Amino acid sequence: QMNERESMFLVSNFAKDYFHNLMLNTNQGKAIGLSYFKERGFREETIKKFDLGYCLDEWDNFTKAALEKGYDLKYLESTGLTIVKENKQFDRFKGRVMFPIHSMSGRILGFGGRILTNDKKAAKYLNSPESDIYHKSKILYGIYQAKKEIARQDNCYLVEGYTDVISFHQSGIENVVASSGTALTAEQIRLVNRLTKNITVLFDGDAAGIRASIRGIDLILEQGMNVKVVQFPDGEDPDSFAKSHSDSELAKYLEDSAQDFINFKVSLLIKDAKNDPVKKAGLIRDIVSSISKIPDSIQREVYIQECARIMEISEQVLFNEMAQLLSKSG
Ligand code: CTP
Ligand code: MN
Ligand code: MN
Ligand code: MN
Ligand code: MN
Repeated sequence: QMNERESMFLVSNFAKDYFHNLMLNTNQGKAIGLSYFKERGFREETIKKFDLGYCLDEWDNFTKAALEKGYDLKYLESTGLTIVKENKQFDRFKGRVMFPIHSMSGRILGFGGRILTNDKKAAKYLNSPESDIYHKSKILYGIYQAKKEIARQDNCYLVEGYTDVISFHQSGIENVVASSGTALTAEQIRLVNRLTKNITVLFDGDAAGIRASIRGIDLILEQGMNVKVVQFPDGEDPDSFAKSHSDSELAKYLEDSAQDFINFKVSLLIKDAKNDPVKKAGLIRDIVSSISKIPDSIQREVYIQECARIMEISEQVLFNEMAQLLSKSG
């Protein structure tokens, strides 16, 4: 007697293969799904590496195939691959290109499905629903394909999107995972923490991306990890940037633009704050609050010295401020 989760993994693995083979080996799959990825510049080897696929734009093409193969409707439903409504069965991902989401060990946990158009009315991405095997807050897209290189490079690039991960691989950077648009969680960072203590945050160059980077920084510091930030020009994300630059230009940009988290926060707000004592004080408190999240006291001291130097303020004032924060939180 196999347990429920095992059955869910099995049907998810079947779905991954089905969508992938359909895209590579059928006329419609090639004409619609494969063309979409090729137009985005994804090469066949990359498409295979990430097991990308396509779900036909029919009501239940996939569901029928799975049932014919003997998979139980119960697990098609509990994984969210099939939606059952008034005794009718629908493919959740109909008409979408498919991004299977692998666990650290390579099991299929769920899927992201993208519409082929840039229609602003429809949800661009649809994801598997929460289930016994898919917990969005504990997943990092690409961790399976990246884990070896994260350990080897002793650094992990953290991006927002599926296509950011894939583009980076094509540009020769394989130590990269995506938070998949959700607010970063401690569980996600813990997955990386097993492989390296160093994270470089590479969120989209828009207001939402900057906000997400700021939130992410404290979570990373709390786990005693080191965090750097690379900002992209407004309107660009790692995928679009990688597409418009050569591999060596991208590598050089990542190297040259990586900022320590203090410098990142300062660079964000300094223009505003420089001549405004109230704003400057707010910025300093903000930075000290991040520093107070670091578990190691020696590291905290080094960062306080750094902050004092950059902000031209005495270390003593910063230590006092931090002591207050620490006594509140402890
Ligand atoms: N996302 C999602 N649902 C949406 C929009 C986004 O789950 N409706 C997630 C996806 O994982 C997506 C990530 O958030 O990859 C980042 O969103 P966004 O930057 O909008 O998409 P891109 O990854 O840039 O996708 P694309 O380049 O295909 O437009
Ligand atoms: Mn494969
Ligand atoms: Mn975005
Ligand atoms: Mn994006
Ligand atoms: Mn994008």
